Amino acid sequence: MLNYEDYCQAADLLRSRIGGFSPEVLLILGTGIGYLAESIEDPVVVPYREVPHMPVSTASSHAGNFVFGRLAGRCIMAMQGRVHIYEGYTAEQVAFPVRLARLLGCRDMIVTNAAGAVNYNYHVGDIMLISDQIRLFDPDPLIGPNIPQFGDRWCDMSDVYCAQYRDLARQAACDMGIQLREGVYFYFTGPQFETPAEIRAARMLGGDAIGMSTVPEVIAAVHCGLKVLGFSLLTNMAAGMVKTAYVPGEVSRTAESVKDTFCALVTSCLSRLPHPPATERS
Ligand code: HPA
Repeated sequence: MLNYEDYCQAADLLRSRIGGFSPEVLLILGTGIGYLAESIEDPVVVPYREVPHMPVSTASSHAGNFVFGRLAGRCIMAMQGRVHIYEGYTAEQVAFPVRLARLLGCRDMIVTNAAGAVNYNYHVGDIMLISDQIRLFDPDPLIGPNIPQFGDRWCDMSDVYCAQYRDLARQAACDMGIQLREGVYFYFTGPQFETPAEIRAARMLGGDAIGMSTVPEVIAAVHCGLKVLGFSLLTNMAAGMVKTAYVPGEVSRTAESVKDTFCALVTSCLSRLPHPPATERS
């Protein structure tokens, strides 16, 4: 279990690397779009393994770096790759970088992931704006003693994916001629893909997309007061929806084919996020 001092120790290490740079937005780059970090101006790269208590990505498609710098006119802290519970980490460890971002001054978070489509109206390659999320049985990052420096024990989850930010994302997609889906992200830890029965259950319960990430980070973000905008890149139809079973490599191949559009949309949303008044920056 982590305590507040562990977070402060990690934040101090990052502050020593970034000098006076003060990030405003945490950008979590999921499967296939880590390359957006290459567009960051004047980047300062800090590998996860150099940060005390920070879990390290074991997935080969996740580079495992923090990249600090400017993108679309905003000061950002990007995560090139993330860690997942299925790698053997606790939900609290998976959410660790979100709380670090808060300690460094971030007020907003844009989270991205690759996901399977559960909604029959969706197609492979679609981008879904996440309107809400469902976590039923899997571990929660807030279990354990509450750390009051981050937030209250009882955390309101009624506007997780900020309505105002979803409005600006819809507008950005419209201006760019991108057809944007909007729906609910249903979370299973994996690492195995779901069974057709699990996918039917997820659909009946209100899920539109299915994935193995994002939810622990988003819960921690809401708890510590970050405003959240989230996107899923739908890389495959979920189990049982098409005749052919999941083909290895499908997720990365689809992500690769859509990554330019996806990155352009995320960048445009970044540029449209409201600037907090100077007095509110911490
Ligand atoms: N299921 C879970 N996670 C995923 C999927 C899926 O079908 N596709 C991409 N990530």
